[in-house]
Amino acid sequence: MCGIIGYIGKKEALPILIKGLRRLEYRGYDSAGVAIIEDSNIKRIRSVGRIDNLADKIKNEKFTGHVGIAHTRWATHGGVTEENAHPHFGCDEKLVIVHNGIIENYREIKEMLGNKHTFKTETDTEILAHLIENNYTGDLRLAVEKSLTMVRGTYALVAMHSDHPDTIVAARLGSPLVVGVNTDNGHDEYFIASDASPILSYTKKVIFLDDNEVLEISGGKMNTFNIKDEIVQKNIEEIEWDEAEAQKQGFPHFMLKEIFDQPRVFVDAIRGRYDLKNGISFLGGINMTEEEMHSVNKIILIACGTASYAGMVGKYAFERLAGIPTTVEVSSEFRYSDPIVDDKTLVFVLSQSGETADTLAALREAKRKGAFVRGVVNVVGSTIARETDGGTYIHAGPELAVASTKAYTNTVAVLLLYALQFGRLKRTSLATGERILKALLEIPEKMTKILEQSDKIKVIAEKYKNTKNMMFIGRGVNYPVALEGALKLKEISYVHADAFPGGELKHGHIALLSTDFPIFAIMTKNQLYDKMRSNVEEIKARKAPVILIATEGDVGTKDLSEDIIYVPETMELLEPLLNSVALQLFAYHTAVTLGRDVDRPRNLAKSVTVE
Ligand code: F6R
Repeated sequence: MCGIIGYIGKKEALPILIKGLRRLEYRGYDSAGVAIIEDSNIKRIRSVGRIDNLADKIKNEKFTGHVGIAHTRWATHGGVTEENAHPHFGCDEKLVIVHNGIIENYREIKEMLGNKHTFKTETDTEILAHLIENNYTGDLRLAVEKSLTMVRGTYALVAMHSDHPDTIVAARLGSPLVVGVNTDNGHDEYFIASDASPILSYTKKVIFLDDNEVLEISGGKMNTFNIKDEIVQKNIEEIEWDEAEAQKQGFPHFMLKEIFDQPRVFVDAIRGRYDLKNGISFLGGINMTEEEMHSVNKIILIACGTASYAGMVGKYAFERLAGIPTTVEVSSEFRYSDPIVDDKTLVFVLSQSGETADTLAALREAKRKGAFVRGVVNVVGSTIARETDGGTYIHAGPELAVASTKAYTNTVAVLLLYALQFGRLKRTSLATGERILKALLEIPEKMTKILEQSDKIKVIAEKYKNTKNMMFIGRGVNYPVALEGALKLKEISYVHADAFPGGELKHGHIALLSTDFPIFAIMTKNQLYDKMRSNVEEIKARKAPVILIATEGDVGTKDLSEDIIYVPETMELLEPLLNSVALQLFAYHTAVTLGRDVDRPRNLAKSVTVE
């Protein structure tokens, strides 16, 4: 949700900023802009649309400055216009800022600033720029600090002032900021960004700003301050991801690359976290004594979107293996509900980005109520990872396509390991534990078998490309798979799709069926196979086209559909790890066939850091 990059060092800032914006484009991409200090003036250029538009506009300009900030926008306040694009100036165009987040009391601030200031845009950010300008008496950091005490809302903010050409000031509350520190071997440069991806080609050494901290880099020195303007000691951390991992590596889209990453990164999710001989898994991140684990009488999995569907798979696993009542709550609902949570409740917050605003708020609510709160997160050092009292990284590597794929499967993998960990403490036998682990170890090879069918799935996607609506059905553990399949399809291809448990069809939804309303049914061989088959027969009787996911060798499916994707057999609880891969490929190929912008679908952003 908006991408920020800032640079201060000895190199020319512009190429670094433009390259950085390209890496951050997945966070928002309706407009972009850059501002650089040139000979004690600030030069700014902005453009509507993708970074390519901005790069085009800039190509005949001369920028030589070594300090600059840039932004790629996902509009919240004010339409998508060049005027509303960041960076934003104060009145005298000496102070400039980029901002991610929402200033809730921007109207009050605007009123307070009154006629002294002239506003040119509809954005909350411009008002923040004027507020800082108003509070500026010669020290940029102090002006930022003072202004932030007057602001209600969330922000990641980076500011520059032409009176201080060797200074950048940044601050965060609720929206992430990472600072790359490259001061070895004669380098003397710092990068400030919304996440580490634009920094990795220069340095892996970073600090993560925390809420209510203000950073000042001035004259080659970096200091972090708290809200009382006291210096805070920050640890420099080392990021594990390398740059190559964040590239497309020959795939036409990040999404396809990330789908194909799955067999490899799945191994990273489970490596070193189980003992096959004893049929156990051990995730140290649970950070609970055995006694505390035994005391847990309720589990709540909190997440949004795809992460919540991964959570629904986790629910089946916790209940089946550990016998602990488990619910899945959508973060935006949880935070405003009256959750029944106490010190025997274990809450897992699930988030690829680790920055989703609603999930973060839900986490804080659960902590306030005294639950054990643990994270299952992909982005290392993200806010959710830091605010939970334990938890586990899913090790999916950078996920840059807006549609989540490998983070889903790796979240499911980690939840299965947690369920087994609790299960073996409670009621799961050694033999079952061993069977689950063996089945998990076979997953990468089985995923590969599905990936090898990509071209076949493409043919099916092309056949149905003119479909306006599609329904996905599944039962048991494949119901969340159906939900995820429908979400994937709608978000990247814009084909309307819904999902229901197969048994629900007769209770209303079946009225929609017709010859031009295809149904995607997940009918793999498990304990609900016969039930699901009856549901598919009912659909066939209404002459609606059926696409099937079926288990390899299930020849009895041939009379039900011409379009069948066969997947290898696995244990029922693990089926989502395979079936979802087939649905990801179906959504991907549909979107490509329809000429959609697969990695950056309209209206969406990767990391939803606003409520
Ligand atoms: C869908 C998708 C979203 C995210 C959701 C939560 O493909 O990516 O539904 O799953 O916005 O995001 P995280 O996991 O970052 O909290």
